[in-house]
Amino acid sequence: MSRPAMLLVDHDEASRLQLKERIAAICPPGMEVLVARSAEEGLGILYSLREQHRTIELVIAMQGMPGIPGGRFLEIVNAQFAGVGKILLSGKPSLDEAIYAINNAGLDKYIPTPWDPEDVKFTITALLRQREMKLLNEKLLSDLQVRNQQLTSALGNLEQARHDLEGSYIQTVESLAIALEAKDRYTAGHSQRVAKFARLIARSLGMPQGEVDIVGQVALLHDIGKIGMLDKILNKPANLTPEEREAIKTHPVVGAQILAPVATFSKHVEGIKHHHEMFDGTGYPGRLKGTDIPLSARIVCLADAFDAMTSTRPYRVGLPLEFAIQEMQKMSGRQFCPDCVEAFVRVLQSTAGAGELAASAPAAPPVPRATDEGEGQASHDDAEPRVQLPTGT
Ligand SMILES: [Fe+2]
Repeated sequence: MSRPAMLLVDHDEASRLQLKERIAAICPPGMEVLVARSAEEGLGILYSLREQHRTIELVIAMQGMPGIPGGRFLEIVNAQFAGVGKILLSGKPSLDEAIYAINNAGLDKYIPTPWDPEDVKFTITALLRQREMKLLNEKLLSDLQVRNQQLTSALGNLEQARHDLEGSYIQTVESLAIALEAKDRYTAGHSQRVAKFARLIARSLGMPQGEVDIVGQVALLHDIGKIGMLDKILNKPANLTPEEREAIKTHPVVGAQILAPVATFSKHVEGIKHHHEMFDGTGYPGRLKGTDIPLSARIVCLADAFDAMTSTRPYRVGLPLEFAIQEMQKMSGRQFCPDCVEAFVRVLQSTAGAGELAASAPAAPPVPRATDEGEGQASHDDAEPRVQLPTGT
């Protein structure tokens, strides 16, 4: 590493040697003290130091030099060597001279004669210390900016990781929900179809894309609370006992309890908990009424019922679209939110809606199970409208 340097410019040889000796005695180790007899020689030394990429700490100049005086010399130094400390020594001190030099040469100190050697020593020591502190501050500031950039980058990575983790968690739970209903071929694909219908309703209501996505996820997970229920109840081929029916009715609350501890699902929990509420206040678990029912729950309630009506179950065939529309309109304001019904019917009656519905329909009706032919075969699905549905063949 190249040595830092200090330059003393004084035309008087005796004075120059005496000053150099004093300055060298107080300089930090490693500092080289250079001397010049004139401003021109001093500038030559400074240009040479700069070419060698050496740090110039301080330039001390005598005012009364022949040729270019010390004040003017330091003005040139100030213009061409930014950040260099500057001291002007004057044998014939004047206030005007001091003010001019301070304003135009960026002077750090003006020392008139007769100067006290201790004062010169103190000034140089203080200036060097001040410069050292300034450099240290600049380095600390630079380090701080680097750390800030690193921290910002780390926070960005952390946010991305959180986002990825949320995405994979949602996918895991969605897969779980799909796997849950895939155990029974008659309900397989139900949640995915409900999610598709719920998205159609949400879009038709003019909801923003972010909320449409949440409604779709609520629909996909709406029956996740059934995960802890016994298959013998869920797939019971006969009517449920009152106790079994009450047990099944806990699934919206159980689903909400499963997802509530996970921050990712904070916007989903209420929709899942209330997807069996009726618009007239006769549903469960909260007997909420009208718009007290979360919008996502009202949408999923309708989409759930629509899929229950139009898909073929062991105990009946799916209803035609026109009949399902009539039933939804009949139950509008009672079981279903009128705004949701209107929005859904509008999209179902459009060309695009018909296409979406056709794409969601099973390729062929499933074959009824042998056990379904037994007595009392019935729906365990509260999503279906309260109207009497035609029985299966
Ligand atoms: Fe449900």
